Amino acid sequence: MGIESAPLLAALHEVTFRGGEVWDATSFAALLSGQGTDATVALVGESPAGFILSRTILDETEILTLAVHPDFRRKGIGKSLVQNVLRKGKVFLEVAVCNNSASALYEKCGFVKAGVRRGYYRDGSDAQVLVSSNV
Ligand SMILES: CC(C)(COP(=O)(O)OP(=O)(O)OC[C@H]1O[C@@H](n2cnc3c(N)ncnc32)[C@H](O)[C@@H]1OP(=O)(O)O)[C@@H](O)C(=O)NCCC(=O)NCCS
Repeated sequence: MGIESAPLLAALHEVTFRGGEVWDATSFAALLSGQGTDATVALVGESPAGFILSRTILDETEILTLAVHPDFRRKGIGKSLVQNVLRKGKVFLEVAVCNNSASALYEKCGFVKAGVRRGYYRDGSDAQVLVSSNV
């Protein structure tokens, strides 16, 4: 997906992260205009059900965000989106230490803990750094 998908990604992000750190369409447009940034949207029928945004620099890919609409969870969509990015090679990401559902998903996809970033989020909470174990 290109820069034209920024409003769609922002809408999905809003419904997914409501009450948390929501990224607006301008932020997505800026990210998508950067080199190496890639968005994949999952469709259920014609409905956008989720997306993953990643950025590849040299031989490393970072998952910048992953969102599955609440109506479409626990159907394997998040896992498929992550597996799609894992085809790129070495992948890393940050996930909030309290985000048990995402941590469970990443563990299932073979990610392992690589460290902690203290105060990574705006609310001061910590992030766990995870790296793929498929390389
Ligand atoms: C985390 C998230 C992306 C998972 O998406 P999903 O499509 O529901 O996940 P999947 O159906 O592919 O789940 C795959 C596996 O992950 C684990 N998992 C997913 N959601 C879980 C939950 N709520 N509780 C426990 N384990 C969970 C399970 O092991 C699951 O396999 P199973 O259903 O066979 O038990 C989704 O809940 C979401 O968008 N959450 C809010 C945004 C977020 O936290 N994004 C990640 C930021 S780093």
